[in-house]
Amino acid sequence: MQRRFRPGSRAVWTSTIRKMTEAPVTQWWRDAVVYQVYPRSFQDTDGDGVGNLAGVTSRLEYLSWLGIDAVWLTPITASPDDDFGYDVSDYYSVQPVLGDLASVDRLIEAAGRCGIRVILDIVPNHTSDRHAWFKDARASRESEHRDWYVWARPSRHGSLPNNWLSVFGGPAWEHDPATGEFYLHQFLPSQPDLNWWNPQVRGEFDRILRFWFDRGVAGFRIDTANKVVKDSLLRDNPPVGPADHAMARRLGQRPARTSSQAEVHEIWRRWRAVCREYEPERMLVGETWLFDLNEVAGYYGADDELQLNFNFPFVYADFSAEALRRVVERTEAALGASRWPVWTASNHDVSRFPSRWCGGDSRLIRMGLTVLLTLRGTPFLYYGDELGMTDVDVPGDRIVDPLSRRMPGQHRGRDPERTPMLWRPGPGAGFTDPDVEPWLPLGDSQVNVEQQRDDRTSTLRLCRDLIALRRESPDLRTGGRLHEPGRARGGLDLPAGDQYCRRAELSG
Ligand code: NOJ
Repeated sequence: MQRRFRPGSRAVWTSTIRKMTEAPVTQWWRDAVVYQVYPRSFQDTDGDGVGNLAGVTSRLEYLSWLGIDAVWLTPITASPDDDFGYDVSDYYSVQPVLGDLASVDRLIEAAGRCGIRVILDIVPNHTSDRHAWFKDARASRESEHRDWYVWARPSRHGSLPNNWLSVFGGPAWEHDPATGEFYLHQFLPSQPDLNWWNPQVRGEFDRILRFWFDRGVAGFRIDTANKVVKDSLLRDNPPVGPADHAMARRLGQRPARTSSQAEVHEIWRRWRAVCREYEPERMLVGETWLFDLNEVAGYYGADDELQLNFNFPFVYADFSAEALRRVVERTEAALGASRWPVWTASNHDVSRFPSRWCGGDSRLIRMGLTVLLTLRGTPFLYYGDELGMTDVDVPGDRIVDPLSRRMPGQHRGRDPERTPMLWRPGPGAGFTDPDVEPWLPLGDSQVNVEQQRDDRTSTLRLCRDLIALRRESPDLRTGGRLHEPGRARGGLDLPAGDQYCRRAELSG
């Protein structure tokens, strides 16, 4: 069934996309360069030191000049911000510090005029403990939403229901004294896990998807897509073995009962069917923190689950030709001809690649960008990658990431890679007003858009040239699998942006 277009932003977006390209757009994500924006850190327009959606809209001309095809915004929905948006208290409204629904509509519409699609982040594994569903759930064992979450009785000796651990440290169970049971939280105690065995939860998320797709959202990045369904018998996780990846060994247990349960694939098939109700089809990209590439490949299904899935073995590979060659070859082998790879090197959870891979050496950073933008697959850039922005040392009294506060001394936290975008030299760096203290400290604003944009030899110009080269060269985008049946035709058929976007000068 094809859903009818409603008047408003969605119709504008759709017709703009249609105008922009003559080629089939159903698989636009294959040819796209996606740019991840951490909205709190991109552009502040109201002088509170926190970036917002109006800020993203105000920078569209820059993104269009850079040549990217889609922006992915980390969560913008209402949240107490215990985990900066990954603790959702309302899936249908916007976090006030970022804007409101009207600012989302404006962003989608303006982005559409620039040939840029907007991808949002959705968090189906857990909500905030301040979500109305959880408040109701914990009110009594009989309440309507009780079974929307994962509850368990204490074991026989009054202790934890099983050995599951939180990714953020400590047991994954929190005792709820009022009702005498434990609830599951694979992340913070204030992020209770939803119970995806409950059909009502599944139905509610269908509604959430359509709510945003109807507004013109082009797709979703799915948070923690491998953990959504848990073993219904709540059996213990086994201990890790020497063959497990170092990242898995960190917790000391293999998430056999809390990750990649067979039934999780039902959910993604269901979501994909919702995506197919739309024209162009909406896109799902999974965050599955997995180190077995065959498991990563499993989330594509038979082209009936996720269209894309992030590749963490690549993110965590060493930055050497040999190590990268190995992981690229293994990825190609595991994904085969029909599944489309994703290449990303930085995001809001891992140290920026210019620091992690390149130690700040601009020659290596240029190499890193070249690798990212010339592999067959979809590259995801993290805001600031294009400048060679590095991690920022965040002093102890400015740390806001709950992870470092929960695991003091054990985890560096994720603030260093979340600091504000550097638009120009000087106080505020064009991110916020010069006399305003940004929510996280600014890095060295000698690395900035304004100066690099004017310098033909800069990292930014290299990145832009690589994106343009990629756009012009089907071979570069599709590699040896150019003639694979069923892929979108390449060539110069991608959204080019309108005159407004192309002519606009950089603001700020
Ligand atoms: C993965 C997200 O990328 C991360 O930032 C978040 O803390 C966890 N999932 C929990 O939602």
